[in-house]
Amino acid sequence: MSDEAPPERRRMVRPPSGGTAAGRGLGQKLKTADKRSLSSQQWIKRQLADPYSERARAEGWRSRAAFKLSEIDDRLGLIRKGSRVIDLGAAPGGWTEVALKRGAAAVAGVDLLPIVPIPGAVLIEADFTAPGVDQQLIDALGGPPDLVLSDMAHNTIGHRKTDHMKIIALIEIA
Ligand SMILES: C[S@@+](CC[C@H](N)C(=O)[O-])C[C@H]1O[C@@H](n2cnc3c(N)ncnc32)[C@H](O)[C@@H]1O
Repeated sequence: MSDEAPPERRRMVRPPSGGTAAGRGLGQKLKTADKRSLSSQQWIKRQLADPYSERARAEGWRSRAAFKLSEIDDRLGLIRKGSRVIDLGAAPGGWTEVALKRGAAAVAGVDLLPIVPIPGAVLIEADFTAPGVDQQLIDALGGPPDLVLSDMAHNTIGHRKTDHMKIIALIEIA
């Protein structure tokens, strides 16, 4: 056996997770900021200083993405009143919330990640590419959808060609 000291073990630091509805409040996070990584502290500061995040909290949206998604819908007129909508890659629920607030009659969403419930939506935690999940969504709506939204995206690895192919594969499946 060698007398050498074992190599130093490095701790993996997770990037900060997005959204506020599912987690602890931002105020609470700041109390422990001194124990957080620099990037995590910077993310919290940005959130507190960001007018869209503040507006989202004030208006009861679960993420600042609501404003961007509403603008997309203003331009494209996707969501019709009374329509049945499927939301693929739904977490944390931005599109689902926007669709319901804009008059969708029913929304069924799916994501690999759990989603804090949204009244009026059926949200399934599953891999959309698994057999039968598409039918589960249709059943949850009570019939075929009028609109299928897909925002599914895998965790990127930083290799542009691989990331591109993986995202195209999800779009084709959708
Ligand atoms: C950009 S985020 C979606 C944001 C969300 N549409 C919103 O408006 O709040 C992409 C999501 O796709 C989900 N996703 C990726 N692959 C998936 C799969 N095969 N089945 C279900 N969800 C998937 C990820 O878990 C991630 O939450």
